Amino acid sequence: MNTPHNPTGVVLSKEELQELANLATKHNLIVVSDEMYEKIIADETPHYSIASFPGMAERTITINGFSKAYAMTGWRVGYLHAPTAYYPAIFRVHQFNTACTPGFAQQAALTLLKDGERAVTEMKESFQRRRVLLQSALEKATNLTVMEATGAIYLFVLVQHNDSNIRDFALRLLDETGVACVPGTAFGSAGEGYLRLSYATFEEDLLEAAKRLVAYVG
Ligand SMILES: Cc1ncc(COP(=O)(O)O)c(C=O)c1O
Repeated sequence: MNTPHNPTGVVLSKEELQELANLATKHNLIVVSDEMYEKIIADETPHYSIASFPGMAERTITINGFSKAYAMTGWRVGYLHAPTAYYPAIFRVHQFNTACTPGFAQQAALTLLKDGERAVTEMKESFQRRRVLLQSALEKATNLTVMEATGAIYLFVLVQHNDSNIRDFALRLLDETGVACVPGTAFGSAGEGYLRLSYATFEEDLLEAAKRLVAYVG
């Protein structure tokens, strides 16, 4: 599971996570919890780690990294927390995939851990501004419905269109307007009808993209 969520931007509530925790305990499941966008979240929305729920630490592998919180996509620095019993298997996979994170990337990560909070706060505020900006620009279209989102860097938008599927629509949109979105079906069949919009770009570009999209769908 993943919260804050890519592609929807939804942040799971304490109650929703408790339901998942109950389910995992009842069926003796291991939970892999991807919390990559933990720090990219609106101020009023709390983030909960499912491993912190009673009885969950011993069945949860929490994964995280520097890519999003510290704008280090491509630097390949991540980390996880898991019950000790899983370590040998995790090491085996890690050892033969990456062996070692490059030293300069580790230095950058260390610097940010010691002194990166201000940068994270600034980035978080800027993402929040962009989300609100994009969302209000899209609300002008009658044929778009924006899903409520308070985390990550995405809006998930339901589109009324006349193509046979959302992928065809997304390709036509790209060809005819120059606006690039990811069709929801890239994440599974439940994404049919939806576009994922990333707002990890400049405010003027977001406004221009929203203007073109709104004009295109009406
Ligand atoms: C939810 C989520 N987890 C993990 C990743 C992977 O991050 P990276 O491979 O840059 O560490 C991404 C990247 O988009 C993501 O959206």
